[in-house]
Amino acid sequence: MKLKFISILLASGLQAACGHQDSEQAAAARWDTSVWRPAQIRKLEHGYRLYRQKCAACHLSSGQGQMTLGAPALKGSTVVTGPVNIHIAKVIHGGNNGRMPAFGASLDDLSIADVINYERNAWGNHDARLVTAEQVRRVKQLLTD
Ligand code: HEC
Repeated sequence: MKLKFISILLASGLQAACGHQDSEQAAAARWDTSVWRPAQIRKLEHGYRLYRQKCAACHLSSGQGQMTLGAPALKGSTVVTGPVNIHIAKVIHGGNNGRMPAFGASLDDLSIADVINYERNAWGNHDARLVTAEQVRRVKQLLTD
């Protein structure tokens, strides 16, 4: 019993240590270099870092969500695999009375684009057309017009 506890502690310590070491090697393992160009991988990695900082607390790094928080799974989500402008609007505005925070003011357009790019290409989701900051700006404009 005690041994089991110690091995769990050790395992989580190791995980934390590896998490800090976000090397290029890890990036290459995450993104298929026969599919993505280096500039695209930089955007996806930017999104990956943002996702871990801003989104994973509720949606989990596995993208499975946490029903206790009302945070749906993003893996296979109809929003994340559906029309991109609806996805952009969701991240800008949040939802469910702020249980999903609105990121339209706290993240710049490029960051919103890249976190969306990450979500649309993680956990088996795939969307080869990456979102640009310009596209996020246009949706913001539509929402405020
Ligand atoms: C404090 C918890 C929390 C955080 C942090 C959070 N979300 Fe959410 N998210 C939610 C909740 C709750 C919902 C459901 C909102 C609703 O039903 O309108 C949601 C819904 C979503 C949806 C719609 C999914 C679907 O299938 O309906 C997307 C996309 C999304 N979040 C992306 C993000 C991104 C991107 C971030 C980080 C930049 C993020 N979320 C951070 C709680 C959170």
